[in-house]
Amino acid sequence: MKKFVWPLLVIFFLLGGLAVLLIGKVALPPEPRPETVEEISNNWFDSGHSDFTAEAFVHWDEDEPSVVPANCAKCHSAYGYLDYLGQDGTTVNVVDSNAQTGSVVTCYTCHNPAAQAKTTALFPSGVELSVPSQSTNCVECHQGTMSRVNVENAVAGLQEDEVSEELSFINVHYKIGGAVRYGSEVQVGYEYPGQTYAGFYEHVNSYQQCTDCHNPHSTEIDPQECAVCHSQVSDLADLSSIRMESPDYDGDGDKSEGISGEVDTLHDLLYEGIQQYASEVLDAPIIYSSTTFPYWFADTNGDGQGGEDELTFGNSYANWSPRLLKATYNYHLVVKDPGGYMHNGSYLIQIMHDTINDLASVVSLDTSGLIRPE
Ligand code: HEC
Ligand code: HEC
Ligand code: HEC
Ligand code: HEC
Ligand code: HEC
Repeated sequence: MKKFVWPLLVIFFLLGGLAVLLIGKVALPPEPRPETVEEISNNWFDSGHSDFTAEAFVHWDEDEPSVVPANCAKCHSAYGYLDYLGQDGTTVNVVDSNAQTGSVVTCYTCHNPAAQAKTTALFPSGVELSVPSQSTNCVECHQGTMSRVNVENAVAGLQEDEVSEELSFINVHYKIGGAVRYGSEVQVGYEYPGQTYAGFYEHVNSYQQCTDCHNPHSTEIDPQECAVCHSQVSDLADLSSIRMESPDYDGDGDKSEGISGEVDTLHDLLYEGIQQYASEVLDAPIIYSSTTFPYWFADTNGDGQGGEDELTFGNSYANWSPRLLKATYNYHLVVKDPGGYMHNGSYLIQIMHDTINDLASVVSLDTSGLIRPE
């Protein structure tokens, strides 16, 4: 008997040891390794936030005096943002003075006591929302400078299809993902009376905040993270092919294109509507250039295209009616959120859908088959 005891004991201890190791592995996963400061710094250095040469940071360098005006400094200057936060000892949520030039979105812009403690964001519509801490600062700068309120005030009391000298194009401003994410809650788009619009787009819980998808330092998106649930994704270019069980909003019969394809087709149709309206109703053809300020120009030769001689400041479009102002505001807004299909596709589709229908009430546009998101 006795000679079996020792081998049994050995086996018992070996199995026990293995069990302890396995349980240990489950109960105590390896510590997540935070990025090193060097990695964080390199990521930030590669981002637009650190680009000392970007127009967004050098635009005022040659001005006399060379300062970033108070109404621009919140987003275009580290000093301006600290002033806005009240971190410089001045009033919170107000930029009290012009800011000096020569700064970018530095580490301290996002990492200072006031920025870290911030729990709300104030939008151009005047709406103030509570926003989780990872996103509050992002949202303050990526919200644009205009809203539905500006459009409504501009057109108040004017005839819908009458050109008014009081009107000029309203530019929502740039990289407005933070506002589009919240949609109707912050009224970033021009919303037509009598319709209801989507608020914050609830994606999945773990990919809800700005920094769940965007690395806070490089600002980049890692497509491998999206691929876990969206199997069509293998690289960045594939993000625009993501689609779930969405209806064929643009009515083109293609239910396999990405949701961004639905956005793009409606955007093209909206442009067609704007051009037709300007030519037929206002008798003043219009063209758009996404890259040339102030974006809308007179189509002097009536060919529908933006020729080099037409895309000049002197040839800026000047025949604004209320209907045209609303339509162009929404059209440009969609261009200025390159991630709009992701941030809040339904909201953008809704505002384009309603803008197209508004134009179609006075020009002949084929809107058959269009579906408005619930
Ligand atoms: C103080 C204002 C400010 C804050 C805060 C801010 N941004 Fe930006 N962001 C900018 C400006 C200005 C640009 C354009 C920079 C350029 O043109 O080089 C920009 C550019 C970007 C871009 C475009 C890609 C790139 O790298 O240029 C992304 C994406 C972005 N920001 C995401 C974020 C996220 C996410 C946060 C929050 C963690 C954030 N931003 C916070 C002002 C800000
Ligand atoms: C709420 C934040 C915010 C405010 C306020 C703001 N901007 Fe910007 N602005 C941005 C962001 C974000 C960008 C980055 C766009 C990009 O790089 O494409 C930008 C880009 C620009 C650019 C560069 C455009 C380009 O094509 O690269 C200019 C010029 C500019 N803003 C002018 C102004 C002026 C003038 C004011 C004040 C009247 C102002 N901005 C106020 C957020 C803001
Ligand atoms: C645009 C805003 C922004 C800028 C600029 C920025 N950070 Fe961050 N940083 C964040 C946010 C937001 C987090 C928290 C991320 C989260 O919780 O999702 C963070 C997290 C961190 C962390 C915690 C470790 C980690 O990986 O989570 C460190 C350390 C850090 N940042 C250092 C820096 C340094 C150093 C710089 C400048 C080189 C910098 N940050 C610039 C927004 C910013
Ligand atoms: C669910 C993921 C997700 C969330 C959450 C998210 N974004 Fe994005 N964002 C994207 C995608 C996808 C793009 C498009 C990137 C592309 O096509 O290269 C984008 C694009 C952008 C851009 C334009 C980048 C460029 O290169 O011009 C900005 C600015 C931006 N997001 C800001 C934000 C802000 C601010 C928040 C938080 C309010 C936010 N995003 C939340 C996925 C997300
Ligand atoms: C944990 C799983 C998961 C991850 C990770 C994930 N998503 Fe999603 N995504 C979903 C689900 C579920 C939906 C449908 C949500 C709804 O009802 O609108 C969705 C919807 C979308 C939509 C809208 C599709 C449509 O037809 O309207 C886009 C765009 C999208 N995700 C992009 C992304 C991007 C970009 C990333 C990576 C930054 C990402 N997702 C990461 C699960 C995920």
